[in-house]
Order: sequence, then C-alpha cells, then structure tokens
Amino acid sequence: MATYLVTGGAGFIGSNVCRELLAQNHTVKVLDNFATGRRENLAEIAGDIELFEVDIRDAEGIQPAFKGVDYVLHQGALPSVPRSVKDPVATTEVNVNGTLNVLTAARDAGVKRVVMASSSSIYGSNPELPKHEGMRPMPISPYAASKLANEAYAAACTHVYGLETVCLRYFNVFGPRQDPKSQYAAVIPIFVTALLKGERPTIFGDGEQSRDFSYVANVIQANLKASTAEGGAGQAFNIACGNRISLNELVRELNEIIGTNIDPIHTDPRPGDVKHSLADISAARETFGYSPAVDVRQGLEKVVDWYREIVDQG
Ligand code: UD1
Repeated sequence: MATYLVTGGAGFIGSNVCRELLAQNHTVKVLDNFATGRRENLAEIAGDIELFEVDIRDAEGIQPAFKGVDYVLHQGALPSVPRSVKDPVATTEVNVNGTLNVLTAARDAGVKRVVMASSSSIYGSNPELPKHEGMRPMPISPYAASKLANEAYAAACTHVYGLETVCLRYFNVFGPRQDPKSQYAAVIPIFVTALLKGERPTIFGDGEQSRDFSYVANVIQANLKASTAEGGAGQAFNIACGNRISLNELVRELNEIIGTNIDPIHTDPRPGDVKHSLADISAARETFGYSPAVDVRQGLEKVVDWYREIVDQG
C-alpha cells in the first residue's frame, strides 16, 4: 500500500480518484482550496482522508502535505477554456505557477512520481486526426497554453532534478460529481440536467464539432497505472476512449437514454473552441497498459442515473 497525495482532491476528477484509491486500501491525502472543488464531493470519505486546505499558489503552505508521500496525482487546476479566455492571468497563476510549486514540493519531499492532469486542448488548431503525442501542439486558448506549459515544466523537472513526472492529456472527461451549475460547467452535465428537467440544451455552433468523451473511470485507471509504471517518466500521454461523437449525436444519445425527444437550440460558436477532437491512445496502452473499460454509451447511462438523483432531490 502506498501514500497518495491528490491535489484538487475535492474536484470532480480528484474526488473520484480518491474513492478508488481508498477502495484499494491506499493512504489518501487531499490538497484543495475549494475554489472550484466542493466539500460535498468529499462528504462520504471525509473521515478516511487527510485534508490540507491550501492554495497551490502558496509554495510554502503546500509543503507539509507532501511529507511521506509516495505518489502525487496533480489534478488541481482552474479548468475551462472560456474561463481562461475571460481571465488568462488567473488561469496561468494557478495552472502554471501552482503546478511548478507542486513539482518543487514533490522534489523536495522525495516523491517517487508525479502524475499530472494535462489536456487534449493543447493540440488546438492542429487539424490532424486522431491526435497523437508526436504531433505539434498548437494551443488556441490560454487554458491550453497553461496545460502545455505544465508539460514543459514537468519534463524539465524530470531532466534537471530526476523527479519522475507523467502528464496525462485528458480528452473531455465526464462522470459523477461533475458540477452542472457553474457558469463554466462542461457540456455533458449541462445537457443531461437540462434534458432531465425537460429543457432545451443550447449547442454553440452547428453541433457538428466532435469530442472523444471519456468516462471518469478510464481516467482513474490511467492515473493509477501511470503512477506505478516502470516507464513513461518525462512524457505525456493521451487518455481517452479513442472514439468521437458530435454534439448533435450526443444530444440524440442522451434523448434516447433519458426517454425524451427534445431539440437543442443552436447559437453562435464559442471563441477558443476546437472543432474536432479524437485521441490515438496507443502510447498509453503500450507504456502502462491503459485500456478504457467504459465506453461513451455506458458512461452516459451511468451519469444519467447519477444526475437523475440530483435533479429529483431539487
Ligand atoms: C476542453 C478540452 C478538455 C479540457 C476541458 C477543460 C478540448 C478538445 N477539450 O474541453 O480536454 O479538459 O476543456 O475545461 O479542447 N458546448 C455547447 N453547449 C454548452 C456547453 C458546451 O455546445 O452549453 C460545446 C462547446 O462549445 C464545445 C463542446 O460543447 O464545442 C465541449 O465543451 P466543454 O464541455 O466546455 O469542453 P471543451 O472546451 O471541449
């Protein structure tokens, strides 16, 4: 059994990662400042984790959390492309400076490996599909730029300090505990909750843009495998399902699962939006045995069940 520190452990992905670590009997520490993370995400497991309520921008303040830690799963960040378009400085301060603080604290504490959340957004306007790790990143939003900078710092820390780092480029993750209410919420929680309430979802643009949506269990698996794998240090890997669907198809699938027949509203495309996204996941498969266990349809069925309870509770 190992000791894991999950930064952003009160967030959507982090809180799901914590549950799996506890299920596997690991010791779990959580670092979060509850800026976008939520206390209710940790409510059921609060007694089983050690919580450090601190901002990753606080280089000294975060240090105690790293004591005795074997692996860091760094999920803490300010997510959202539109948020970064509105406030690029905040996104950079948290995602880049905060990440460098996490990396140096991990180095100083003698952590064995840091697995970090990166993003498919770094491929940006590069039109090639599927996206593979050898492609040139072409970020088109400050969010994407911040994630690419993180990858550069991670690789640099591996080279100059010998700190093992692995970056995971998540492709549009969805699942339980993803916030549907924030103004920067992701599309699946917004659409599922709208349809469950009988409301029309709004698609930005013609709806032909596509995404390689990935259920959160796949991302959890990738984090756990990447943390203890032999290889991969200093590198970045795509984590997705390896299939894409358009937003129009997404609405059709959700209508079918929920049993509704609600047409979306179309408005202008969103600035900074990538048109198509699809991952080649062979590098993660070959390096640490990543294999997505839940496909999009199964994942959508699971989240519909989860949001149904939330919506029913009002
Ligand atoms: C991007 C990244 C993803 C990253 C995430 C962090 C890409 C391909 N993906 O996701 O890796 O983790 O940011 O926040 O860059 N949409 C609507 N109606 C809505 C909401 C969204 O039509 O009400 C559309 C968006 O315009 C977009 C798609 O749905 O085309 C997905 O949007 P969203 O869920 O916000 O994620 P991305 O920006 O694709």
